[in-house]
Amino acid sequence: MGVVASAPAKVILFGEHFVVYGEPAIVLAMDRRVYVKVENQEDNTLHVRSTNLNLAACFEKNRFRIEQGDPKEARLRFEPVRQVVERIIEEHGASVGLNVEINSTVPVGAGLGSSAAVIAATIVAVSTLLNVKLHKEDVFRLTCEAEKVVHGASSGVDPAIATFGGIILFQMDTGFKPLDLRMDIPLVIGDTGVERSTKAQVEKVKSIMEKYPQIAQLMMNTVREIVLRAMDALKENDLETVGSLMNVNHALLYGVGVSDESLEWLINAARKAGALGAKLTGAGGGGCMIALSNEEKLDRISEAIQNAGGRSFKARKTDEGVRIEQN
Ligand code: PMV
Repeated sequence: MGVVASAPAKVILFGEHFVVYGEPAIVLAMDRRVYVKVENQEDNTLHVRSTNLNLAACFEKNRFRIEQGDPKEARLRFEPVRQVVERIIEEHGASVGLNVEINSTVPVGAGLGSSAAVIAATIVAVSTLLNVKLHKEDVFRLTCEAEKVVHGASSGVDPAIATFGGIILFQMDTGFKPLDLRMDIPLVIGDTGVERSTKAQVEKVKSIMEKYPQIAQLMMNTVREIVLRAMDALKENDLETVGSLMNVNHALLYGVGVSDESLEWLINAARKAGALGAKLTGAGGGGCMIALSNEEKLDRISEAIQNAGGRSFKARKTDEGVRIEQN
C-alpha cells in the first residue's frame, strides 16, 4: 500500500551553456521516470531509501542515522527530500512518520535532471498520502527551492520539466514557454559514465566568453538563430533539419571547450550509425550525449554507442509531468 508518484527526466535539445548568457534553450521531458513510494511509518521518523544507489538513512528530529551505504553521500542526496517532506508535514499540521523509497530509471549525476524528478515525485506522493492539497505551481516552486540545496542557484529548467513535462522554450529573462508540439522526437541517449561538475563546465565557458567577447557575441547570436530555426523545424515535423542543427549546436559547444574525448567517441559513433544529428546534452565534460534518429535506425545507433564504450537507451518525449501512479 502507500502512494507512488513519478516524474520524468529531462534532456536539453538546444542551447545549454549559452542559456546562462540569456539565450533561449529547448528542453524536453523524456519517458524515463523516477518513482517514489511513500508509506506511513509507526514511529515519528523519516526513513529514506534509494534502491538504485544502495543508500538508506533515517532522520529523527535533528539526528541522522545511516542504514546503508556512504553516510556523506546519503546525507547529500537525501537532504532535499527531508526538506520537502518537512514542509508538507508542516502544512499537514501533525507530525507523522514516513517511509520514502526511491526507484529510478534515470542515470544519476549525468545531467538528466534526476534530482529534480526525485523531489517533484516525493512532493506529490507525500502530499497525496497526507491529504495536503497542492497545485502544480506549488510543486514547481517547492522543487525549485529544494534543488537550490543540491545545485546552488538553478535556472529552474529541471524542476519545470519534472513538474509539467512536455517540451519547453526557456530563457532567463522570460522564463518558460510550453511548446505545443505533437510530433515524436525519437532519441538515443548515450551516457559516457564520466562524472562531471556543471559548475566547473560553466566556469570553463565563462573564461572563453571573457577572453573573446566579440566572438562570444557572435556565438550567442548563432545559438539564438539555431534555436529559432529548430523551433520552426520541430513545428514542421522536419527531423532532418532538427538533426543538422543539433550538429551545428554541438560544434559551438565544442568550441567553448565543454566536449571531451568520451563524448566525441559516442557522438561520432552515433553519426556513423546514421543519426540525423548528435550533440552533448547538459553541461558536458562527460555526462550524456543525445542522438536524433529515424525510427528504423534507433537500435543500430544505440548499439553503436555501446560498442564505443557508452551506456545507451532509447528515449521519447513525454507530455506527462509529475503524476500519481498508485494510491
Ligand atoms: O547540469 P546539467 O548537465 O543539466 O547542465 C546544466 C545546463 C547548463 O546550461 C550548462 C547550466 C545552466 O544552469 O543552465
